[in-house]
Amino acid sequence: MTGNGLKLWLLIGGMALSLCLGFSGVKAQSSLQQSAPSGAPPKLAQEQFKNIQTLKCIPADQVVPSMQFIGASLGVECEYCHVHGAMEKDDKKPKVTARKMMAMMMAINKDNFEGRREVTCFSCHRGAKDPVAIPIISDEEPKRDNGEGKKSAEGKPALPAADQLLDKYLAALGGADALQKISTRVQKGTVIAFGGERFPVEVYSKGPDKRLSIMHLKGGDSITAFDGNQGWLGVPGRTHLMSAEESAAAHMDADLTFAAHLKTMFAKFRVDAGEKINGQETFLVVGRNDGQPPLQLYFERQSGLLLRLVRFAETPLGRNPTQIDYADYRDAGGVKLPFRWTLARPGNRFTIQIDQIQQNIPVDDAKFVAPPPAPPAAEPKPPAP
Ligand code: HEC
Ligand code: HEC
Repeated sequence: MTGNGLKLWLLIGGMALSLCLGFSGVKAQSSLQQSAPSGAPPKLAQEQFKNIQTLKCIPADQVVPSMQFIGASLGVECEYCHVHGAMEKDDKKPKVTARKMMAMMMAINKDNFEGRREVTCFSCHRGAKDPVAIPIISDEEPKRDNGEGKKSAEGKPALPAADQLLDKYLAALGGADALQKISTRVQKGTVIAFGGERFPVEVYSKGPDKRLSIMHLKGGDSITAFDGNQGWLGVPGRTHLMSAEESAAAHMDADLTFAAHLKTMFAKFRVDAGEKINGQETFLVVGRNDGQPPLQLYFERQSGLLLRLVRFAETPLGRNPTQIDYADYRDAGGVKLPFRWTLARPGNRFTIQIDQIQQNIPVDDAKFVAPPPAPPAAEPKPPAP
């Protein structure tokens, strides 16, 4: 782009932003706009969708993640608010209410929390349509917090340093050298989803950071991939490029030497006593970079292995969590690998159980490349869940 072209872009982008500031009222948004792929300013919601009134100024690719956040906060499906196949229609009352609620949420945060997004839909709704306004009478003897819980820190074992836990994890997997020796990995197994249905799955990895998983579902293959630069999703007849943020998450999963990179991925780490996972004691390491949601890592105390990873995708209304639980660690070619993992989000989860692994066999780079977009056909089908 020429210097003048660039200035024009900045001018147009700047204008759109300044026109939009009044509507957004959500501080987290600025970091989202920075995280968009460099170059063009992100397309705004109002430019892509037909009937956006409150979320006009959020990036277009944040609309659906924001909707997922709403659905999870209220414990409802899209159709609770939307007419199937015509999302722009305002025929359903909850949709109209939801718009008022967005404005309310933004006003609460603006008036009381200096615009920081402290209150979200979930703060009140807690996974239900109707927030509870009256304290609940519980079946058990209540334990009331007298505010002194924090003082009695005596007797708590000292927590190890984050570096120590990250080193222990890397060593438990076999060490950096052993990880580096793996150039490719092909895993075959079963995905268990939708309350117990089983389908074949294959996961192809190639160093440093290419990955593709194919689930052979009833309705056709569902693909999640990272080609080394960009993440993409594929369902029959349709390919979807991931947003910058989704790509960053897919990149993390694709990194064959993730454990060796962890220390340099975050500016700050904090260690806490983690919750028990499947009866096993853990330490929680939280990695942070300024302006980004944290990454939570739960390491088993004895072995040092990673049992759980929780990451958050920022949306203008709140954060969408993804939790991956790793289990069934076994030795494979000089490294330790989880043969089972469960990926869970509010309202859906699936487990992958691997039963066959091959490493350092040839895997063609072309495998990871997204197919070119199909010619515009009839209304595309929604992806298989
Ligand atoms: C609690 C109600 C509610 C739920 C549940 C909900 N939405 Fe929405 N949705 C809205 C509202 C309100 C708007 C309009 C926002 C605005 O005006 O800024 C909207 C707008 C949209 C739009 C833009 C439509 C257009 O062209 O104007 C899309 C697309 C959308 N939602 C998708 C979804 C999806 C997908 C889900 C399920 C994951 C979902 N929504 C769940 C309330 C809801
Ligand atoms: C400060 C608390 C609070 C926040 C924050 C909040 N809500 Fe609500 N919401 C309520 C209450 C209380 C009701 C029930 C009102 C009633 O019973 O008439 C309600 C009702 C609703 C309803 C109607 C439910 C039905 O029965 O059909 C929808 C839809 C809704 N909220 C969506 C949202 C969305 C989306 C957000 C976030 C953008 C949100 N709310 C944030 C308190 C809140």
